[in-house]
Amino acid sequence: MTTKYYLWTVGCQMNKADSEKLAAGFDRVGLKATDRMERADVVVLNTCSVRQHAEDRAYSKLGRLRELKRERPGLKVALMGCMVGLKTDDLEKRFPMVDVFARPQQFDGIMGLVEGQPEDLGGEFWPTTYAIPEGPAAYVPVVHGCNKFCTYCIVPYRRGREKSRPMDEIVREVAYLTAHGVREVTLLGQTVEAYGHDLPDAPDLGDLMRELSGLERLARIRFLTSYPRDMTHRILEAVAELPKVMECFSLPVQAGSDAVLDSMRRGYTKAEYLAKLAEVRDLMPAAGITTDIIVGYPGETEADFEETCALLESVRFDKVHVAAYSPRPGTIAWRKLPDDIPAAEKARRLHRVEEIEERISQEINATYAGTVQEILVEGVRGEQPFGRTRTGKLVHLDAPARIGSLVDVRIEHAGAFSLRGAVEDAVLMA
Ligand code: SAH
Ligand code: SF4
Ligand code: F3S
Repeated sequence: MTTKYYLWTVGCQMNKADSEKLAAGFDRVGLKATDRMERADVVVLNTCSVRQHAEDRAYSKLGRLRELKRERPGLKVALMGCMVGLKTDDLEKRFPMVDVFARPQQFDGIMGLVEGQPEDLGGEFWPTTYAIPEGPAAYVPVVHGCNKFCTYCIVPYRRGREKSRPMDEIVREVAYLTAHGVREVTLLGQTVEAYGHDLPDAPDLGDLMRELSGLERLARIRFLTSYPRDMTHRILEAVAELPKVMECFSLPVQAGSDAVLDSMRRGYTKAEYLAKLAEVRDLMPAAGITTDIIVGYPGETEADFEETCALLESVRFDKVHVAAYSPRPGTIAWRKLPDDIPAAEKARRLHRVEEIEERISQEINATYAGTVQEILVEGVRGEQPFGRTRTGKLVHLDAPARIGSLVDVRIEHAGAFSLRGAVEDAVLMA
């Protein structure tokens, strides 16, 4: 009987990409996916630690798994991803029903749970196993880990130091993906512009984009997440010059007050951040720019918070992802700074940011009404095809369109979360 696996994933795009790779590995040895945990022979939870809430979701899954394992002792369970640190003693004690604990990208331990394990598990990028594309858009990790150590953040502790993937390996994977219907790749890194500094000849992200632009079937290149200090003028020029690279930036600012930025050890002041943003807009006036904000960071005063709100009003981001500060055991902030903003106050600040964000993103969306935008048709939901503009806006189409095609769309309606329009023309390579 075929062995069935259930793979549950939370967290960022990097985690998603890791899960896709693992799924491809399972596929290679003949396992089949199931979307019911109760029916699986192997269960993998790919976890996130960025906030307590993300961990709590895994804990509730683990509770259910404890019962399942009691009913079926043969069930294999792996806990993977950012909840797994260097030491696993605590986790082992709390969750004895877990067979394997695997840090991010440690696929070998998990593959050890199944029969017929492939012999080529070498290297964290597992270059011989490619994710099986689910549609025309795919994620491609290019640099793992993070060297920045922002005080609040668990990521460097769980994903280790920056480690770039050789350029030829990335090109090979993207060529494979395009041969299997992929038209758009999103290059992933916690600080994606850090790409290359640790490789021979130290190529940068711009060099990689240039190389990938040469792949004929590839129509679009995106990249995530930008870190202001790593974003050089050279990289920005490549983004501006290369037609296949989308002018769309995820550029977290985190806070609008210099005191908070300094305490967070973000490595820039508000003025430096704004200067970087001006550089982007100077080269690409229409660029889509999103950001991340943390509210209720230790010691954030009302005046600090007002500075964040003022920054949001003046920059006018396309989208703001806001989170309330959540102390992460092991981080610098957790060791040194009391979590001193009451939960209710964090919630108030969060809602205030959400209000500002909704109003501004709706206003920006409204400016798209009547314009013609190039969309890559990514899929169909209900009856409606959908895709994204170059700047990253979600667009629903009124009429059928071929998945994977590039179409010109006239925007007829602009809502808070998405746009709607009709196809004017099928463009290049459609
Ligand atoms: N590398 C990216 C973000 C990685 S984590 C960067 O440099 O910004 C994704 C987002 O989660 C962060 O941008 C931050 O806004 C949020 N985040 C990280 N740690 C957090 C914490 N302890 N509490 C609340 N939000 C947090
Ligand atoms: Fe975390 Fe900072 Fe690294 Fe982003 S840059 S992953 S916030 S430590
Ligand atoms: Fe979460 Fe790890 Fe990503 S902590 S946000 S899954 S890097």
